[in-house]
Amino acid sequence: MSTQSTISKKSAITDPDQMSGDAPKRKRMTVPDFMARKGGDPLVCLTSYTAHVAHICDAVCDLLLVGDSLGMVIHGMPNTLGVTLEHMVMHGQAVVRGADKALVVVDMPFGSFEESPEVAFRNASRVVKETGCHAIKLEGGTEMAPTIRYLAARGIPVMAHIGLMPQAMNTAGGYKAVRDEAHYEAVIADAKAVEAAGAFSVVVEGVAAPLADRITAAVTIPTIGIGASAKCDGQILVFEDMVGLMPRVPTFVKRYGTMEEMMRAAVAQYAAEVHARNFPGPEHTYKAK
Ligand code: KIV
Repeated sequence: MSTQSTISKKSAITDPDQMSGDAPKRKRMTVPDFMARKGGDPLVCLTSYTAHVAHICDAVCDLLLVGDSLGMVIHGMPNTLGVTLEHMVMHGQAVVRGADKALVVVDMPFGSFEESPEVAFRNASRVVKETGCHAIKLEGGTEMAPTIRYLAARGIPVMAHIGLMPQAMNTAGGYKAVRDEAHYEAVIADAKAVEAAGAFSVVVEGVAAPLADRITAAVTIPTIGIGASAKCDGQILVFEDMVGLMPRVPTFVKRYGTMEEMMRAAVAQYAAEVHARNFPGPEHTYKAK
């Protein structure tokens, strides 16, 4: 049985398709559909790394990003630099199995695309083939334009990522938001370069709101903000940040849930019931025939 059908059968309570009753069935979001939302109804995007979370987010999201942030969020790495293509393929497969409405985009990890457009194509085509995702994302502006052009011309839709680029943390000396007006023109030039190269959308991370607004006005592809501006064409957050599963809450994160507290309480109650021999109760044990 596929993961998708396992989820559908077992998660009636968490299955928003079943809860929404007469809500019209949504068709799978395509890259042209996504691009057509420029300047329209804001695009809702979240990260997902697993099939179950993907299934939950799929109910309301236009795009699910299998971000390389999974290195930190799922694998406990200190940053994204240790993430491999194998990690991205494995989590990409899980998310594609869990989602049937949203556009699924998989991040290219550090070291898998920078060397040359040809290397980027080899690795990106592997990601597309082995996961079934619909597009890839890569970090970089003007310097990545030739690679974006090469991939886009060969059937791989590319989401670009400019502004604060976590994979460049060592060159930047950490995670630095772009706030100084002296740097605005360079980031706007990055946005225009990735658009001209054929990116279908661009993530704009960690930039002052006025700069994000100028970028959104300067390009005809949808801008997806994170730590940017409400005027971007869409927003993205890391799912675990948003539901309250990560201990650190950066400025740009709004917590919409308190999952860590709920999970701690559940685990503590389970441990207490095991110690007290209150679990399993009679209703959780099999009767002899
Ligand atoms: O890796 C990631 O999760 C990302 C988003 C934060 C945009 O790149």
